[in-house]
Amino acid sequence: MHIALGCDHGGFPLKDRVASLVVAAGHTVVDCGTDSDCAVDYPDFARKVGEVIIAGRADRGILICGSGVGISVAANKIPGIRAGICHDYYSAHQGVEHDDMNVLCIGARIVGEAVAVELVQAFLGAQFTREERHVRRLGKVLQIEQDALAGKFATP
Ligand code: RB5
Repeated sequence: MHIALGCDHGGFPLKDRVASLVVAAGHTVVDCGTDSDCAVDYPDFARKVGEVIIAGRADRGILICGSGVGISVAANKIPGIRAGICHDYYSAHQGVEHDDMNVLCIGARIVGEAVAVELVQAFLGAQFTREERHVRRLGKVLQIEQDALAGKFATP
C-alpha cells in the first residue's frame, strides 16, 4: 500500500520511526510533512494526508500530533476520511476490520515508540472484513456524511 504520513511538531518525534516501519512492512510512504520540530498547525497536515488519500495517491494514512485528538478531528472533516485515534493494539486493527478506518491517528505525547510500533503494525496488517453488519453500519456512516454535505443538518 501507499501510506500518506503526516504530523505536526508534537508528532514529529515519532515520524521517522513510523516511516521506517511502514517501509519495513513492504509499503511506500507518501511524506506529507512536517519536517522538523518547529511549531506548525496540525490541520494543515491532516488536510494534506486527506487530500492525498482522496486523490488516490495513497491507500491509507497515518497522522501523528501531540495527543492525536486535534489531527483526528481535522482529518474527519474531509469526506471519505475515516480517522481513528488509537492508543491500544485492539482498536488499531479492529478500527480497520469493523469500521474501515483509513487513517490511524497517534498522540506522540501519549504513547511511546514501542506502543506506536505495535499500533502501526496492527493498522497496516488489518483489512475491512466486509461482513454484512459492518458493511451496513459503514453505509449508515457514509449516509451521515452525504446528508451533511447535502445540507440536511442545516438549521432553518
Ligand atoms: C500542539 O501543541 C498540540 O496541540 C497538537 O499536537 C495536538 O496535540 C492537538 O490535538
